[in-house]
Amino acid sequence: MRTLGIETSCDETAIGVVEDGGRLVASIVSSQVQLHAEYGGVVPELASRKHVEAMIPVLDEALSAAGGGLAALDAIAVTYGPGLSGALLVGFNFAKALAYALGLPLVPVNHLEAHVYAAWLHADAADAPDAGPRFPSLALIVSGGHSDVVLMTDHGHYRRLGQTVDDAAGEAFDKVARLLGLGFPGGPAIDRLAAEHGRAKTLKLPRARLDGDYDFSFSGLKTKAGRIVRGEEGDSPEAAELAAAFQESVVDSLVTKALQAAADNGAREIILAGGVAANSELRRVLAERSPVPVVVPPPELCTDNGAMIAACAHHRLAAGDIAPLDLDIDPALKIG
Ligand code: KG4
Ligand code: ZN
Repeated sequence: MRTLGIETSCDETAIGVVEDGGRLVASIVSSQVQLHAEYGGVVPELASRKHVEAMIPVLDEALSAAGGGLAALDAIAVTYGPGLSGALLVGFNFAKALAYALGLPLVPVNHLEAHVYAAWLHADAADAPDAGPRFPSLALIVSGGHSDVVLMTDHGHYRRLGQTVDDAAGEAFDKVARLLGLGFPGGPAIDRLAAEHGRAKTLKLPRARLDGDYDFSFSGLKTKAGRIVRGEEGDSPEAAELAAAFQESVVDSLVTKALQAAADNGAREIILAGGVAANSELRRVLAERSPVPVVVPPPELCTDNGAMIAACAHHRLAAGDIAPLDLDIDPALKIG
């Protein structure tokens, strides 16, 4: 069963090919990062137009990497939300046309759900994760637009336990990176700079809302970082020290809440997913502190890609989830 997955919810034009929901056959990602870096963030209309340009070349590349051409495909999967509406429409309409022309089922995929499925992608049966999903799983989905704590009780069954009440984790990384003049996207830049600083930290930043429920709040931390950068709290530390302290605070909040949610709900594993899951400190600290196995995709599959869309679609299709060809996108779609 070979599925083509198309992803255009934000600033990556991405197409992947996956077999049987897990075997990664091809993953091509055309990033628009350089285009948007000039503006310090994603410009929605430019993103849509770049997707229009990149769509067919990315499809050609994915098909030649996968071999077998269009004739070898069994289903077309596509992100229908959440995301930027203009950007979503490009991939969504392209997928519809492809499914219609090839007479294949069109499988609508929730982008947040797909991030979780990246955890079980593998290049070959030999390096498949040691055990498949161990339900209930606790998924920590942290990206540029979302920070969700989700209990996954089965394929397609989610209960959202917590979320961000203001900025998403990735958004906080991007905003603090901008304060530090590190460019866009900020997450990888802060990750690198914090690593340069090493582990001997003197600056301590507050933790956001660590008691009670499983919600996050990062805007207070971002405001505090801004005050420090502008010298409103005494002598400004080196950028690397602030990057390390900021990252440490975000990671501690994320890990503490995820572990609490996992323990309270008897989770048998924790899945770390979404672009921020590429963060080296988050991966390290979660693995170190978790009493249950942590499943995390390789960094290149944490950020947006088409393979995760195809992987998730396999399970949606098994549940009979085929989109009618007049389905619309859902830019505000949630999980759980
Ligand atoms: O999942 P994703 O590719 O797109 C969305 O669905 O939003 O996530 C992008 C986010 C950006 O905010 C980016 O700064 C962040 O993921 N990110 C990171 C790292 N790599 C990407 N954040 C922290 N550390 C990283 N290494
Ligand atoms: Zn994403």
